[in-house]
Amino acid sequence: MADAMGRREFLKAAALGTAGMAAAGLFGTSVFAGETEAVSGETPSRSEQAVPFKGKKKFAGVGSVRKVSDDTYYIGASDKRLELFENVYPIPRGISYNSYIIFDEKTALLDTVDKSVTGQYFENMDAILGTQTLDYLIVNHMEPDHSAAISEVLVRHPETKVVTTAAAAILLNQFFDCDISDRLITVKEGDTLELGRHTLTFVEAPMVHWPEVMMTFDMMTGVLYSADAFGTFGALDGNLFADEVNFEQDWLPDARRYYTNIVGKYGSQVQDVLAKAASIDIKMICPLHGPVWRENLGWFIGKYDLWSRYEPEDRAVMVVYGSIYGGTESAANALAAKLSQDGVANVAVYDVSRTHVSELVAEAFRVSHIVLASITYNAGIFTPMRSFLLDLEDHALANRTFAIIENGSWQPVSGDLMREITDSLSGSEYIGDKLTFMSSPDSDDYIAICDLADQIANDVKDGAGKAAAEDETVTEAEGTSAQGWRCRVCGYIYEGENLPDDYVCPVCGAGPDQFEKL
Ligand code: FEO
Repeated sequence: MADAMGRREFLKAAALGTAGMAAAGLFGTSVFAGETEAVSGETPSRSEQAVPFKGKKKFAGVGSVRKVSDDTYYIGASDKRLELFENVYPIPRGISYNSYIIFDEKTALLDTVDKSVTGQYFENMDAILGTQTLDYLIVNHMEPDHSAAISEVLVRHPETKVVTTAAAAILLNQFFDCDISDRLITVKEGDTLELGRHTLTFVEAPMVHWPEVMMTFDMMTGVLYSADAFGTFGALDGNLFADEVNFEQDWLPDARRYYTNIVGKYGSQVQDVLAKAASIDIKMICPLHGPVWRENLGWFIGKYDLWSRYEPEDRAVMVVYGSIYGGTESAANALAAKLSQDGVANVAVYDVSRTHVSELVAEAFRVSHIVLASITYNAGIFTPMRSFLLDLEDHALANRTFAIIENGSWQPVSGDLMREITDSLSGSEYIGDKLTFMSSPDSDDYIAICDLADQIANDVKDGAGKAAAEDETVTEAEGTSAQGWRCRVCGYIYEGENLPDDYVCPVCGAGPDQFEKL
């Protein structure tokens, strides 16, 4: 069959999915048919598939291929056409689906891509792999944005074994209605896979962000293949590494929006993974979306630490209002103006009807103080405001300080109802009493709004002062308790009574003469 089939027919059959492949006789009888025999002679061997590549193009310049480290390559692809990620989240900057391949005595592919980018993906893979065998497909995450191409990989590479968790194997069967038991290697926490020079070890990461998720750590290169963790919305424009872009300016808002909306609910599970990560020497993080991290890893891990502990990044205020005829909007704007006049920088005001809720959720994770101003609607909370608050509840936001403003032309009730939801969030605190006005704020209402702004501003600044004092105290405490030797060049601390004569600073390379005793 394979001899008679050209590449075009092969791809056409592959495009038709399982049924098309079966109709074309490409599955053999064992891979998807529920049998456990070895792949039959009907399945084309790698060399018989007439892929017109020789496997010698291991360099950037083919599609979106980038070199990650010595013998490790990025072969993923980006989608700039998709409007809504997960059919929920707007992605005006697109999205990348990352996949990596390690060349060693054994060759390993780490995850695949979404079906929307399989054209680019297989062009990359064919160019870099050519007619070489693909020994392993490591599936860290079974969500279809990373697993959709698994069936085609397995058809193209009948020699490939799938390495994944037992939980992922169940999902694989559900999504593809297949039996790959004769090609499956299930692994668990701490198991290792030898490729030759590379030894891979597996780290279970349940609920980051599905239950079957694992991460793969390359013990030779120090690369952590982190699944969805440390991912972000945004297409890759040739730049693969976070240090090749202005990440903080151009990517951080999307990274925050990605984390908070996709993984935000599972803070404790993320904390578990961060604790495991702290025990290994990670030199690079290769996520399934967005840039790869090879520098400044601590900065981004720090963001994850804050987000997953539900601690604000900034002592800052967001004002969210729901307004129909402008009265509540006026109150919100007056409050924001007074906050700014009181010295609160970067106050962010959002019309809840005009801002996608995923942006509001991300901002709520960023700031310390949230002002909610809503009209009363159908004897309840204005619908978009209610949706926003329920989204905060769904994402387990905690430890925020709220102020509440309600409006109603005959029976205002939105304030108490908003408070019921914010009360359900862990660690909620409040500034001032609920502020109520009827239809549009009058002069007394504006005075009350200014008073509320003053209280919020004082709390923001007091908190900032306390945080700074706490930092100072910690630094002093660290200073007094530190023991060992400090590098005068970079500040690195060697913990030990005696500095070895031949010691070299692991950070800056300074010799022992540059160290001072603490
Ligand atoms: Fe990017 Fe959970 O998938």
